[in-house]
Amino acid sequence: MQFKKFVVCACAAACGLAATSSFARDILRVGTEPTFAPFEFLDTDTKEFSGFDMDLIRAVGTKAGYDVKILNMGFDALIPAVMTGTIDVIAAGVSITPERANRVDFTTPYYVSGVSMLIHKADAGKYKTFADLKGKKIAVQIGNTGAGKAKAVPGALVSAFNTTSEAFMDLLSKNADAVFLDRPVLAYYLKNQEKAAKVLTIPPYIDDAENYGFAVKKGNKALLEKLNKAYADLKASGEVDKIYKKWFQE
Ligand code: ARG
Repeated sequence: MQFKKFVVCACAAACGLAATSSFARDILRVGTEPTFAPFEFLDTDTKEFSGFDMDLIRAVGTKAGYDVKILNMGFDALIPAVMTGTIDVIAAGVSITPERANRVDFTTPYYVSGVSMLIHKADAGKYKTFADLKGKKIAVQIGNTGAGKAKAVPGALVSAFNTTSEAFMDLLSKNADAVFLDRPVLAYYLKNQEKAAKVLTIPPYIDDAENYGFAVKKGNKALLEKLNKAYADLKASGEVDKIYKKWFQE
């Protein structure tokens, strides 16, 4: 009797296992560069990827039927990684530009941003637009749109760093005159770094608007459609607004 019961249990367990594995969800490999708060950063306590993009891609990926796995990479490594198939999607506050759209396919835009600058308070009267940084030192993150804008300033000496943290350090240590970066990221940095807020400021200037999108391999229509559909559903249900409010409104 005892033995028979065991056999039944073992079979149930084996069948259960088979059932789970055949219905296992595919993994969505998401690449990010987490020095871009409040969009993506590593939570100092939990060591988890945190931020607006991270919540959004987890929700969108889950809704699209995937198990979301986030991977940490250099910003300039993200597009090559999605092109070669090392990752399935980029979630890194990536601005949709015509040049990038030749190399990857973007999802529906999910956030409107734009590049601005962070400067020393003492220079607030001098530096009002990017052009005022002519011949000056500008710190940027390698490969991002801020880096492109800095290189376009005549005679500017541009230092390009792997992380935005290094660019901020370069400015704080008075080595650089400005950091060119997405305005919401500069604003979040100033709000959360008391020391920096005492000596640094963001002029009202903002360059052209830029839209953030998630990016997939060019031609991966199936994934693009799944992500867009999931995003549209989450937008309609109010879930996207909930995530937005969590990060951008108190
Ligand atoms: N929006 C800018 C760009 O697309 C900056 C993105 C930086 N993102 C990051 N996770 N570091 O170039």
